[in-house]
Order: sequence, then structure tokens, then C-alpha cells
Amino acid sequence: MRSVLFVDDEPDILSGIRRMLRGMRNEWDMQFVAGGAQALEVLESHPVDVVVSDMRMPEMDGAQLLSVIKERWPMTVRIILSGHSDQEVTLRSVGIAHQYLAKPCDMENLVHVISRACALRNVLHDARLQSLVSGLSTIPSLPALYIQIVEVLKTANPSIQSIGQIVSQDIGMTTKIMQLVNSSFFGLPRRISTLDQAVALLGIDVIKALVFSIQVFSQFDPQLVREAHLENMWQHCFQVGSLARLIAMEAPTDSAAADEAYLAGIVHDVGKVVLGVNMQQQYVEALQQAEKEKVSHSDKEREIFGASHAEVGAYLLGLWGFPDAIVEAVAYHHNPSESHVQCFAPVIAVHVANALDHIHGGVPSLVPGNEIDKAFLLTLDGLQLAKWLEKCRDKIKECLAHERENIAGR
Ligand SMILES: [Fe+2]
Ligand SMILES: [Fe+2]
Repeated sequence: MRSVLFVDDEPDILSGIRRMLRGMRNEWDMQFVAGGAQALEVLESHPVDVVVSDMRMPEMDGAQLLSVIKERWPMTVRIILSGHSDQEVTLRSVGIAHQYLAKPCDMENLVHVISRACALRNVLHDARLQSLVSGLSTIPSLPALYIQIVEVLKTANPSIQSIGQIVSQDIGMTTKIMQLVNSSFFGLPRRISTLDQAVALLGIDVIKALVFSIQVFSQFDPQLVREAHLENMWQHCFQVGSLARLIAMEAPTDSAAADEAYLAGIVHDVGKVVLGVNMQQQYVEALQQAEKEKVSHSDKEREIFGASHAEVGAYLLGLWGFPDAIVEAVAYHHNPSESHVQCFAPVIAVHVANALDHIHGGVPSLVPGNEIDKAFLLTLDGLQLAKWLEKCRDKIKECLAHERENIAGR
């Protein structure tokens, strides 16, 4: 049974939540406490899976409590539940909390968010990796893109479009912006899956605060960028995102799925960034071994780390509250037949885009494990595979020719 701890100094709110969640008592072991000190006492006697804490509390506020929990019990999922009027205070917890919920929170949403957090343990089993991912507050940016965003934000009237354009090329900024915008804290009415929309809805002031005062965006050490070939990886992810959107537009689906496909493509290998940056030496050796033995990177990662980059990435994005379709696309981009999809979905677009970029693009071709699973694609409802793949190939040729022209023109 999963365990959940609720912390709020207002007795009415606490008893309201207790009443609302009565129906879940056979599924979760729930505890309710009135402040940070009591919460820590509970955790000391028995760590819990999820903590949902109020932000504004006397003595120890939500951000302070969650930062102690982050330090001492890194595997615990940390959620802030706070009022809209506390937006400024709550921004302080960006980088500490995994997700943010707004008061009043309806039962459906609360149950959904907590259930997803509990289910994540099934995506990634290794406790060491869970702690590592859970402790991450940000994915750094490429220095060149970080400098660009700082410059743009320093201008008198930065435009939403130019910010969106920079963010959309960077895995780190994309993940952070989408984490914030998909949390209900900002009171946005629906799931947002395009970056332009996300940037516009957060607004320039919040983005400025994230960059300058809260400093939640950071940049990689340039030496690491060179040693770990991060620019190639960013290029691959950007290319997979662009291709995934193009080919989703040729499939029987709506434009929202095409936008999600783009976003999923940008972040599909975020697990490689997590492993490569936090276990650099071991990760470089793992990839070298995979190449020598001609096995897929994913198989080698599973052998050495207990999970592949796909699972690590999906765990991070799930923890950060990304939409299910994107988490699924990242988890199964190498093996879509293990997902539950029966018709076209972002996971299919990312799977094919990744394979096409390996076959035709700039990344080393024919790395095992990046082939298109045609047998599975043939089982999907409503997709005329041969025709669709033909269109995809034409698109990628156009896309790559355009890319080459850009490089030649530089
Ligand atoms: Fe991958
Ligand atoms: Fe990839």
C-alpha cells in the first residue's frame, strides 16, 4: 500500500481533504498533520511515498519542509498545495517541489495527481536511480542557448515569440517551463502542450523571475558540453521533435497530438542527459561497451544501471507532471509495442522520428535498437503504413536538406 502524508496548518482544510479522500483509504495509507515539525516526526518513524504540503505555514513553511525532505528522503514525491494568492511565495519552491496544486483542489485532480505519483515507482524500479532523479531540480541548458535567453530577457520589450523560439530548442528550459505550466498552480484551464502557449501563459515576468531571481535555469559547464558531445544530443532531440511533429501531421490524428509529438521528441532522450551528466564516466564507458558489443544503448544501460534512458526520462517527466501521452512517448520510444496504444499517438511519431534521424540524420547511423518496428505499426487502427512512411521519408528529406542549407549558410 502506498503512503501519503498531508501537511496543512488550517484544520478545516486538513479535515476537508480527509473527508474528500475517504474513498481512497483502502488504497493509500494516509496521515494528516498540522505542521512541518510533526511531518518530520512522522517521516523519521516511517518514510512515506508522497508528501502534499501547504506553502504558507507558521514556523516552517512548505518550501523549507520540502527542502528538508528532499535532502533526507529524496525518494519521496513532493507536492505543494497552495492558494493562488501565494503565487510569489510558491515560486520559491520551484526546484524543490515536483508538482504544484492550487487550492481549492477538486477530488478528481488530487486523486489523479497522487495516483500517478504512486504509479511511477512501477516505471523505474531501481531505488538509487529513483533518488537521483527525484533530487534533480533542473536540467541545465546549453550555454549558447542560456546566454541567448538572458540577452533577450534583458532587452526593453522581449517578445513572447523570441523567448518561445529559444526555449523550444533547449531540453532544460522546455522541461522546466512545461513542468510549471502543466501544474494546476497557475490556474490554467487545460493541459498545455505547445511551448508558445506555455511561454505566453506563464508570462514574461514569471520567466524573468525564473531566470534572474529564482535561477532555476542554469547552464552546463562548457567543458562537459564538449566532452559529452551535448551539442550533438541537443541537435538530435531538436531534429526528432521537428520530425515527430511533421510526421504526426501526416497521420490520422489531431493537431494537439502533433504538438505533443514535437514536445515529446524534444525531451525523448532526457534520460540520457540525466545519466550522462550525473554518472558521466560510467555512462561513457557503458556506451563504448554497447558499441563494441554491437548491442543497443538501452540494453547496455539496463545491464549496468538497472534501467534504460527511456525509463529514467519517463520517471522524471512523470514526477514533474507532464501529460501522460508525453511520458508514454518517452518511456516507449524504442519499443512502442510495449505501450498500450492501439492507434496513432505521440509515441509512434517519436519512435519513427528517432529511427529516421538515426538512419538519415547526423547521429551515428544503425545503432542497434533504433529500427522502426514495422510489425507493430501494422497493427495500429487506421494507419495506412506504407503510404504514411513514404510521406514521412519525403518530409525528412526536405527537413534534412533545409538543415544542410542552414549549416552551409552559417
Ligand atoms: Fe533514445
Ligand atoms: Fe534518440
